[in-house]
Amino acid sequence: MSHTPPAPVPGRLAHRVALITGGARGQGAAHALRLAGEGASVILADVLDDEGRRTAEELCSQGLDAAYVHLDVSAPDDWQRVHELLDARFGRLDILVNNAGIVQVTDLADQSLEGWNRILAVNLTGAFLGMRTMLPLLRASSHGAVVNTSSVFGPSGAVGYAAYAASKAGLLGLTRTAALEFAPAGIRVNALVPGGVSTPINAQEPDGGVVPETPLGRRADPSELAAAVAYLVCDDASFVTGTELVVDGGFRTR
Ligand SMILES: NC(=O)c1ccc[n+]([C@@H]2O[C@H](COP(=O)([O-])OP(=O)(O)OC[C@H]3O[C@@H](n4cnc5c(N)ncnc54)[C@H](O)[C@@H]3O)[C@@H](O)[C@H]2O)c1
Repeated sequence: MSHTPPAPVPGRLAHRVALITGGARGQGAAHALRLAGEGASVILADVLDDEGRRTAEELCSQGLDAAYVHLDVSAPDDWQRVHELLDARFGRLDILVNNAGIVQVTDLADQSLEGWNRILAVNLTGAFLGMRTMLPLLRASSHGAVVNTSSVFGPSGAVGYAAYAASKAGLLGLTRTAALEFAPAGIRVNALVPGGVSTPINAQEPDGGVVPETPLGRRADPSELAAAVAYLVCDDASFVTGTELVVDGGFRTR
């Protein structure tokens, strides 16, 4: 089924500084393209350094403002280094998109503790560290907005995804709590809840996985998630905080 990719709203995020974790590829790269296309200065952070640099260079070659930094979201020292870098260069952070995530499909009975801990460390602790470390810079913004990328598998659960689903459900509680605690500083915190999205993770099974259970009959293009992120971080969503934006082609309504 074809669809027209959503287009950026020029200038809507002018003069905003955005940090996107997992920005080297997939949804993170689409978020970077969209936010930069709306005028933001975008910092892509990832552990895939070559791919991340290439993605940033591609954006710059289109006349957009983008740069790449190495950041393992599970490493507190990496967050501190990126905090110092942003502080020195901009003195604030307007937009934080905690998008980095990993998945490992294993029945609960066979899930190793090591694998469980790694998934929680990246998907859940990564977002906690990001918000805790960047809070002083978000406070320095008059438009502070955070998006945490959950998944429909968080609320629903899914066979083979115990650690992943737990991490993504945990992100929803973390998001609501951060929204409450950050509201007095005018910082909004919301969760993005994607259904199936066409990214390198599931390139091997274009019509498999969640597609048969998705009423719209396809996975999302990453640009469709990027449009939702752009909405959540821009002033059109100025009264939206502590909520979940579900972008799943109807998966949850089955
Ligand atoms: N693709 C889907 O169907 C789908 C559905 C729901 C939710 N999600 C979530 O969307 C987010 C983006 O995933 P995607 O679909 O673009 O997949 P992806 O694998 O293409 O992108 C994930 C990115 O995160 C990066 N990353 C992994 N570990 C990291 C770490 N420790 N520190 C920094 N970066 C790290 C990867 O290198 C990669 O660039 C993830 O949180 C994922 O769980 C994806």
